[in-house]
Amino acid sequence: MVTLSIIKADTGGFVGHSAVHPEMMSAAQDALSTAVGDRLLLDGKAASCGDDLSLIMMHEHGPDAEEVHSFAWDVFLQTTQIAKRLGLYGAGQDLLSDAFSGNLRGMGPGYAELEFTERPSEPVVCFLADKTEPGAWNLPLYKMFADPFNTAGLVIDAKMHAGFRFEVYDLYEEKRIWFDCPSELYEMLMFIGAPARYVIHSVESKTLQEQAVATSTQRLSLIAGKYVGKDDPVMIVRCQSGLPALGEVLEPFSFAYTAGGCMRGSHHAPMMPVSVDDAHPARFDGPPRVVALGFQVHEGKLIGPRDLFDDPSFDRARAQTNEVMDYLRRHGPFEPHRLPLEDLEYTTMAELEKRLADRWQAMPAAVPAPR
Ligand code: 13P
Ligand code: 13P
Ligand code: MG
Ligand code: MG
Ligand code: MG
Repeated sequence: MVTLSIIKADTGGFVGHSAVHPEMMSAAQDALSTAVGDRLLLDGKAASCGDDLSLIMMHEHGPDAEEVHSFAWDVFLQTTQIAKRLGLYGAGQDLLSDAFSGNLRGMGPGYAELEFTERPSEPVVCFLADKTEPGAWNLPLYKMFADPFNTAGLVIDAKMHAGFRFEVYDLYEEKRIWFDCPSELYEMLMFIGAPARYVIHSVESKTLQEQAVATSTQRLSLIAGKYVGKDDPVMIVRCQSGLPALGEVLEPFSFAYTAGGCMRGSHHAPMMPVSVDDAHPARFDGPPRVVALGFQVHEGKLIGPRDLFDDPSFDRARAQTNEVMDYLRRHGPFEPHRLPLEDLEYTTMAELEKRLADRWQAMPAAVPAPR
């Protein structure tokens, strides 16, 4: 068995919240190469989307391994030092804890980890997003693994007919549930259609009994109790041979669906699939970006990446994103561009409610009807 881990954090933005500084990227890549030399990792690649630095790692320690998580934590401390030295924005932004203990749960960095037995050919896609939240993967995952209008394999490939099992987290109650699809599609949609709270954490093939997907699911505001930047999720999807084909995994992103995030993490905005070079949200700190890095995993090595959205066939989705962005922006501070109040719970709204609490008065009584 091997494990593919993506561990990510925002340890400082260049400029504002738009990118990771090249010096931080090369420090991270050097640390990964050293860890491969020291045999902690089988392979490791540094990548970024917007201001979030991702460590993409192959190893044999399994998910939640202390040695891998503490290695990532140390890399993030190191890139934070660079961010401080260069005066970058929000140095150490996602490091919410002072000291590492055991694993990264509840400490700020996000992670998606998937343990599997390598198939003779093992195509995987690592998705990295910026200026959005973990629930942003719900819609595309539904389309990849449950919608035959997206995934021809659900109809054509006998190994896919039995369907897939989805693991869904309730991030507010810290509970999880499994849905068997297609039989429980409609029940599942009731929950995952509310992506601020319910988030798909993993997907498993019923026929192959293999895990196909892992997502990062931490909510920074729920850890910190206040707004400290967006969660900017990552996701791993295995492809082909009883799982969706590469093109079926990418197809959901041809539609510029909206997700929570963008400016101050407080707005609905469309997801823009982009090449690595274009993964720098600038307009209104958005629109949210997603990159897809394709790898062939072979003998524990990450052969790649291929920059999969660097493809003119996603130009239309990008154009649609810009149109939707123009439309939503004109709402300014009004919903549905601005997030609903319950999702602004951890922003200035809480403070404002407190400050104005004693200024609210009863509405004037209704005028009695004339006799
Ligand atoms: P190729 O003939 O190019 O290998 O394509 C096979 C396929 O099934 C693509 O979805
Ligand atoms: P990040 O989570 O990407 O740092 O975004 C924070 C923000 O508030 C952008 O406007
Ligand atoms: Mg940031
Ligand atoms: Mg970010
Ligand atoms: Mg963030």
